[in-house]
Amino acid sequence: MIRAAKYFIFFLALLPFAVLCWRVLNNTLGPDPADTLAIETGEWALRFLLLSLAITPIRNIGGWPKLFPYRRTFGLFALFYASVHFLVYLLFLLQLRWSEIFEDIIERPYITVGFTAFVLLLVLGATSTKAMMRRLGRRWKQLHKLVYLINILALIHLIWILRTDLTEAVFYASILLPLLAYRVYRRYVSKALKHINLSTSN
Ligand code: HEM
Repeated sequence: MIRAAKYFIFFLALLPFAVLCWRVLNNTLGPDPADTLAIETGEWALRFLLLSLAITPIRNIGGWPKLFPYRRTFGLFALFYASVHFLVYLLFLLQLRWSEIFEDIIERPYITVGFTAFVLLLVLGATSTKAMMRRLGRRWKQLHKLVYLINILALIHLIWILRTDLTEAVFYASILLPLLAYRVYRRYVSKALKHINLSTSN
């Protein structure tokens, strides 16, 4: 990754966090600051998840192999915002009532789904190093396919929260679905077409 581009991406990715800190310090988060923080951090986690998923198609279609390392960078920023999101939930929404966490995770489906997505994202974050890549070998690729499931879970989490006005969920779904369709295309259709071409040319 070109160093200047790397710093620029880091700066841009941390900007929403800096703006949120600024709004906390200046008390401009609106009438329900905890809710605003939960919504903003959750949305940034989802945006980075989608960005990370978009890298492969953009790289393949645009022919930009140098984009590859950004997939990991955006994935780690998704984990960063999801961790802040979880912290906001623990500190401000649950107010550290530890005994209620398990109750919440079990009894409130949108928390169950969000928590599952977060735990899976933690697993991907913990195995994202080059050392883990070497250690896990082929299993690494299999494991990191979980990113598709994490994106789907995050979207379900959002739909469950929004319940009636689903405009926002439709917006994110209209980005996620083509990315998933591209994955299915590459995995099955493109392979099958190559196979047909090979067998007709032989
Ligand atoms: C990858 C993991 C996660 C993603 C991508 C995510 C995403 C989101 C998004 C986009 C929102 C905003 C909904 C809106 O616009 O109103 C949100 C809200 C919320 N999330 Fe998550 N979330 C994740 C994990 C979690 C976890 C682990 C918890 C708690 C255990 C959690 C609890 C909440 C709560 C309490 C809200 C606010 C609901 C409200 O508006 O009352 N989320 N999340």
